[in-house]
Amino acid sequence: MNVHDSEKMAGILEKEGYEITEDRGSADLIVYNTCSIREKAEQKFMSDLGRLKSAKSLRPGLRIAVAGCIAQQMGGQLLKRAPFVDYVLGPQNIHSLSTMAREAKTGEVATMDNPDATLLELPASRKEGNRAWVSIMYGCNNFCTYCIVPYTRGRETSRPGENIIKEISGLAAQGFKEVTLLGQNVNSYESDIGFVELLRKINEIDGLRRIRFVTNHPRNLSGELAEAIGTLDKVCEHIHLPLQSGSDSILKAMNRKYSFKEYMKCIELLRKYTPDIAITSDIIAGFPGESAEDHKSTINAIKSIQYDGLFAFRYSQRPGTKACEMDGHLEDELKQERLMEILDTQDAITLRKNQALEGSMVEIMLETEPGDESGKAAGRTRSNKLVNISDNSGSSSKDEFITVRVTRGNKHSLLAETVRD
Ligand code: 5AD
Ligand code: SF4
Repeated sequence: MNVHDSEKMAGILEKEGYEITEDRGSADLIVYNTCSIREKAEQKFMSDLGRLKSAKSLRPGLRIAVAGCIAQQMGGQLLKRAPFVDYVLGPQNIHSLSTMAREAKTGEVATMDNPDATLLELPASRKEGNRAWVSIMYGCNNFCTYCIVPYTRGRETSRPGENIIKEISGLAAQGFKEVTLLGQNVNSYESDIGFVELLRKINEIDGLRRIRFVTNHPRNLSGELAEAIGTLDKVCEHIHLPLQSGSDSILKAMNRKYSFKEYMKCIELLRKYTPDIAITSDIIAGFPGESAEDHKSTINAIKSIQYDGLFAFRYSQRPGTKACEMDGHLEDELKQERLMEILDTQDAITLRKNQALEGSMVEIMLETEPGDESGKAAGRTRSNKLVNISDNSGSSSKDEFITVRVTRGNKHSLLAETVRD
């Protein structure tokens, strides 16, 4: 989501006559797009920002903008702490970057609530290639007790269906073959049409081959959506469905609003309509009060679900969230130990699943890096598995989709060879 927000900022600035440079030393304006989901991201940003202080004193014309969730949270405080910053703008105020850049004033802060953000059609400067991100909703109403997002991105609002269809039709006409619909909770999308109806309409867009969407909340997973994934030909056989914990008492403390049993019902429903669906998840290790037994439930959950991939994180205290005020915070070492066990458990499962694909034929969409002349050598399956091609010969064609034979299943990717008749 942040990468796509950056594409929008670049799009806005291009309209103002700016162009992107990879060379900080020659930039007139440096925009930071920040994340505050975990403490580490915040620390990284702060130390990087500090390095710009001297750049500013050497080049007084340089403008520095801080955008994203840290900007939203700190607001004017950021200007006090780093007076060399010129603009501060939150995720609901991306559009204000154009006036900030045009008027070139300093010390401006835009962190207002903006429920109309969904109606703003911001230009996005996308990288060349086959894949594009498209926002379909903003914000979140769930208030999981560990999470800062509802405080930084505001309440949930869905973008009108018509605008989304128009954007995707335009992307397909430009040659994009895959879209990933973005939102904190896409399966609760609701505007003039519902999420499944939106998928049906996107499925009809000519030229488009693959539709993906992230992220989903188990609470809102309907039978209708499970069926749509199984029946709409362009909707890929993959869902990211964060579990967070396998223990009911921790799920309750997290305010996730489902039990493990209810989560398993979602998995069964998905597999009923799409037996080979790839399922991935997010897990938090060491939530406050998590006992050894709670942790064991999470390990057992991972083993019984057999995910295709997992993102796992150590619980990170976010000031302002409910969990931050709870008793029973765990030591870092214990959180780390549990995180490692979670990752090791999943790695063994992923490896086994990937090895089971050895010898099979899979369709991949080749991924190109802009300006990469070395030939196309990697791609993804519909199930979102990364495939590296060992022999490059057959893949130098202009084809964007090719069928390859899997020769080796690794922990984080597949190795494959091109198939000749
Ligand atoms: N600590 C650790 N992980 C978190 N996430 C969200 N907030 C926190 C936090 N405070 C994780 C959740 C979410 C993913 C995007 O980030 O697992 O699904
Ligand atoms: Fe955060 Fe929960 Fe909303 Fe996801 S659903 S953004 S974890 S509050």
